[in-house]
Amino acid sequence: MPVQTQQVTDPLLSVSKEFLANPYPIFAELRKSDPLHWSEKGGYWIATSYEHVHFILHDLRFGKRLNEWSGNPLLKKIGMKFFPSLEGYTNNMLNENPPEHTRLRSLVNKAFTPKMVAEMRPEIEKIANDLLDKVEKKRHMDFVADYSFVLPITVISRMLGVPEEDRDHFHIWSRDIAGVLDPNVGTGKLIVAMFAAKALRKYVMPLLQKRKANPQNDLISALANAEENGIHLTDGEIVANIILLLAAGHETTVNLISNSLLALFHNPEQFAKLKENPALIETAVDEFLRYDCPVQMSRRLALEDVEVGGKKVRKGDLIVVLIGAANRDPAQFPNADTLDLARAENKHVAFGYGIHRCLGAALAWNEGDIAISTLLKRFPNIKLTVDVDSLEYKTPFSLRGVKSMPVTF
Ligand code: HEM
Repeated sequence: MPVQTQQVTDPLLSVSKEFLANPYPIFAELRKSDPLHWSEKGGYWIATSYEHVHFILHDLRFGKRLNEWSGNPLLKKIGMKFFPSLEGYTNNMLNENPPEHTRLRSLVNKAFTPKMVAEMRPEIEKIANDLLDKVEKKRHMDFVADYSFVLPITVISRMLGVPEEDRDHFHIWSRDIAGVLDPNVGTGKLIVAMFAAKALRKYVMPLLQKRKANPQNDLISALANAEENGIHLTDGEIVANIILLLAAGHETTVNLISNSLLALFHNPEQFAKLKENPALIETAVDEFLRYDCPVQMSRRLALEDVEVGGKKVRKGDLIVVLIGAANRDPAQFPNADTLDLARAENKHVAFGYGIHRCLGAALAWNEGDIAISTLLKRFPNIKLTVDVDSLEYKTPFSLRGVKSMPVTF
């Protein structure tokens, strides 16, 4: 059992409204006092410094298969026999270690090609413009419901070949599954997640069978055909990875787009600079990702004993890796709490690092670029209509973004 060295409170034990609204001062305190903190109550480590986060994400002695963590609330509260119901969620590349991870990622990569992403750019521009056309006459919108949410879900649905009219269902299911991302979840959320995983699996399986019988120019058909050395993905693996792409493809990018605009509202000087010089978007997207990152957290299981920063992490220990804290570490980023759209050296870890680095990073980056550039070209006078402090943040904390954002233009 690791020895508690400092009296620091684990902010993840009970996530307050204040913490959701601005976790960065608490991260800074934790990073300063105990950058690799053992949470006695949580039963896990919390890494907050860039150095530790980077090291843990990169070192293969830290792995996934998080459902096998002996402290896993799913195992503790519900029991192993129910686990197969979450199969559609856990049986994906994000939850696998090599060699399984290598095989899955390489096969999915064959379907998710850079060409496919590049070809999406004109389509993303059209989707952005169509959405803005719809609200132009009204001169106001809820930025989240009318724009930042709809854009990525439309993009990923079209890429996969999933009917757009079904998006309300799969959005609710993927949100329910994402509900178990935070380390301390109640039994209610776990049960809801299991039903959602089952429902998503039931929804995706017939789509896969249809594409197998009648292939189209979409990602589901490409996944069904992806082959390496004569080996294909099994139906179960395809379904699990479709669910991952569907969920990762929209639950994250919505927050990149909303958090970017919000960062501009918070920093009017930077906002003015971007409007004066739209080419600044080239470095701005990475700065938005660093400054207020959409995925705040990841987790790893120690596959063997490893010493980190003078502390002994034992085989089987869980480490909560606070990406949002690493991205604000002053040891890595000068003026880390300042939004600097022209920041040149920006090795943020918003897309993770190492073998699990985001497979959709290029797509997400392009969506962020196009969403913000198109918006500012069309509605340069966009303004928030409520007090910025009244905006409410969504849970889980790991996927950081506001629920709604009323604006005029
Ligand atoms: C701004 C938007 C996005 C952010 C911030 C983001 C962030 C991340 C992060 C931090 C990871 C690594 C997690 C870990 O190490 O445990 C990851 C993995 C992943 N992301 Fe994203 N993501 C975004 C958008 C997307 C999109 C659009 C897609 C696909 C359509 C996608 C697909 C994936 C997949 C498949 C993985 C798993 C990779 C692996 O395990 O090898 N993501 N993402």
